[in-house]
Amino acid sequence: MNDLRPVNEISSTKLPTLPDAQTVTEVRHWTDRLFSFRVSRPPSLRFRSGEFVMIGLLGDSGKPLLRAYSIASPSWDEELEFYSIKVQDGPLTSKLQHIQPGDQIILRPKPVGTLVLDALLPGKRLWFFATGTGIAPFASLMRDPDTYERYDEVIMMHTCRDVAELEYGRQLIESLPDDPLIGEFVGGKLRYYPTTTREKSAKTGRITDNLTSGKVFADLDVKPINPDHDRAMVCGSLGFNTDMKAVLEGFGLREGANSEPAEYVVEKAFVG
Ligand code: A2P
Repeated sequence: MNDLRPVNEISSTKLPTLPDAQTVTEVRHWTDRLFSFRVSRPPSLRFRSGEFVMIGLLGDSGKPLLRAYSIASPSWDEELEFYSIKVQDGPLTSKLQHIQPGDQIILRPKPVGTLVLDALLPGKRLWFFATGTGIAPFASLMRDPDTYERYDEVIMMHTCRDVAELEYGRQLIESLPDDPLIGEFVGGKLRYYPTTTREKSAKTGRITDNLTSGKVFADLDVKPINPDHDRAMVCGSLGFNTDMKAVLEGFGLREGANSEPAEYVVEKAFVG
């Protein structure tokens, strides 16, 4: 029967000879543009919250088609979780969106990335800024006890086009205070500021605009961003990241890296 299936379907489900194959355990479709999935974790894989790995499928040519995906699960989770856009003509996501539990994907177990706590100098308040699937690395960092041990306050700003696109993040964040493993670390430290830009909701507007106008500081009743105490991590589209760098530098923050920690770090969310 297998011989009758289209080549792209066979390649997405059967990777018996690949050493880096992992098994899909769960798939959730959030909207027609967004889905999340969980896969088995290679026993030897260690990573820092916020890092990404290369994952993918075999392409039609038989070569692996891999893209960088932030790990959305915390390092203590026995599986790995990813959060992805679906692009109908995207080389990888046009196929990846059809995976089912039991299928296999390729996962190169070499985590890297700059959105790690060690790339920031010590501070009091940590800001996470994400658009769309850019919330994935923060889904990991928000479930890491270390985040709450290092900071007194954590503020998650997430902006999407509409309310449905916020749902993955909203469900996760709302579950954290009662989570048996991480809840006691989160305590009252995590604040969430979701906005939409193309649908009316409780809070609207781009993150950049809500920071420069001061609206978010007024709404949350907090002091504006200040390089002495505030640290920030940014993950979204190229345009968002570029605009956010200018906004954060306007507040006096400098970009850091693993080798030279400073006040903020940036990573591009994968699209396509
Ligand atoms: P907008 O609707 O005003 O474009 P996308 O789904 O296209 O990746 O966008 C996700 C979210 O990021 C949208 O709410 C979008 O707002 C916002 N966004 C896109 N580009 C920027 C940018 N340069 N600065 C701030 N927000 C942005």
